[in-house]
Amino acid sequence: MEEIGVRMEQGAIEVPKGLDKVIVDRTGIASTDSDGNLVYRGYRAVDLAEKRSFEQTAYLVMYGHLPDSSEIEDFSRFLMINYGIDDSTERIMQLMPKDTKLIDLLRSVVSLVPLKEKKDDKILIEIGAKMPRISSDGYRILKGMPILKDVQGSYAERFYYLLTGNYDSVGARYFEKILILYMEHEFNASTFTLRVAASTLTDPRAAVTAALAALKGPLHGGANAEILNYMLKMKSTDEAVKFVEDKLAKKEKIMGFGHRIYKKLDPRAQFAKEQLKSLAKLKDAEQLYDYAAAIEKAMWDKKQIPANLDFYAATCFYLLGIEESFYTPIFAASRLFGWGAHYIEQVSDNKLIRPDSKYVGPVGLEL
Ligand code: COA
Repeated sequence: MEEIGVRMEQGAIEVPKGLDKVIVDRTGIASTDSDGNLVYRGYRAVDLAEKRSFEQTAYLVMYGHLPDSSEIEDFSRFLMINYGIDDSTERIMQLMPKDTKLIDLLRSVVSLVPLKEKKDDKILIEIGAKMPRISSDGYRILKGMPILKDVQGSYAERFYYLLTGNYDSVGARYFEKILILYMEHEFNASTFTLRVAASTLTDPRAAVTAALAALKGPLHGGANAEILNYMLKMKSTDEAVKFVEDKLAKKEKIMGFGHRIYKKLDPRAQFAKEQLKSLAKLKDAEQLYDYAAAIEKAMWDKKQIPANLDFYAATCFYLLGIEESFYTPIFAASRLFGWGAHYIEQVSDNKLIRPDSKYVGPVGLEL
C-alpha cells in the first residue's frame, strides 16, 4: 500500500544524480563529444575563434547562420550603440557596498538596467551589448576609480579597453579568440538554469539573471577566478608537479581541471594553450607557460583529468593585463549570446521543465 505523502508515479524514470549522461532535450545550437569536439551551429568553435570575429560568431550562435555584410554591419552597430548605461544605473552601482563581488554586481545590474528593446532577441543582444560597460564601470566604481569614456573599435577592442584602459589591437585579438571559445556550450549548468527559467515563460532578462547566478559557482564559471591563486605561486616545474601531488593526496580539487563531458581533452583548452604559448613568448614570460604545462601533464599522469578552458584562459587573461575579478564577468558577457540562443530555442518549442523527485524523508508521523 502507498504511504500517505509518498507518490509512486506510474512510468517515472529515476536518472543518475547530476543528470550525468541524461539527454533532457534536443538543441540545434551547439554540440560536444567526449573526444574533444565542440561545434557551434555546425562549425568547429576553434575554427571560428581562429577565422571569425566575436560579432560574426555571436550572430551565428544567435541566429543560426553566418551573417552577410549588411547583417553584420547592423548587428555590430547595434552592439556599439547600445553599450552604454544610464546615470541612474551608475548611481545604483555607487550605492553598492565596496566589497561587492563584481559578478554579483553584474547580476544585480543586469536585472534592473533600463532597456529600450521589446523583442526577445533584441532584448538579449542589448543586455549583451551592455555587459562589458557594466563590468568595467562596476569594477571602477567599487575601487573608487574614474570610469572610462570614449570607447571605440570592435566589440573585443572596446571590451579589452574597458578592462585594461589600453587600446591594443594585438592584445584584443588574443582576448577575442578566448571570448569566442567561452560563447556557447550546450546544456551546461548556467544554460540549463536559463532554460528552466525560460520554460516558465518568464522574460529574457529574468532568465539571464538566473543563468548569471548559476555561472558564479566555483564548479562552473567561478573556477576561472581561482586559478591564479595557485598559478602565480609556482617557482619551478618541480614545484608545479609537487603542487598537483599534494592536492590529489589531500583529495582536493584543482580549479581549471575536469569536465562533465570532456574526459580526455577539452578542445578549447588546447586552443587556449597555444594562445598562452604565443602570448608568453610575446610578454617574455615563458616560465609561466612551462609551469602551466607541467601542472597539466602531472594532472594527466596522476589522475587522467584534462585541463579545461578556464585553466589556460585565466593564465592568458593574466598575461593580457586583465585583473582577476573580471574573469567570471568576461565568461558571462560572452556566454550571454549562447544563453540568448537557448532562450529563443526553449520558448519557441516550450514545455515546462519540471522534473519529479523521490521522497526519502520520514513518513507517517502523527501530531
Ligand atoms: N581536481 C581534482 N580532482 C578532480 C577534479 C579536479 N579539478 N575534477 C574532478 N576530479 C576527480 C573527482 O575528485 C572524482 O574523483 P574520484 O572518482 O576519485 O572521487 C572524479 O574526478 C570525478 O569528478 P566529479 O566531480 O564527480 O566529476 P563531474 O563530471 O561531476 O565534475 C567538474 C565536473 C567540472 C564539476 C569537476 O571536474 C570540477 O569540480 N572541476 C573543478 C572546477 C572547474 O574547473 N570547473 C570549470 C568547468 S569548465
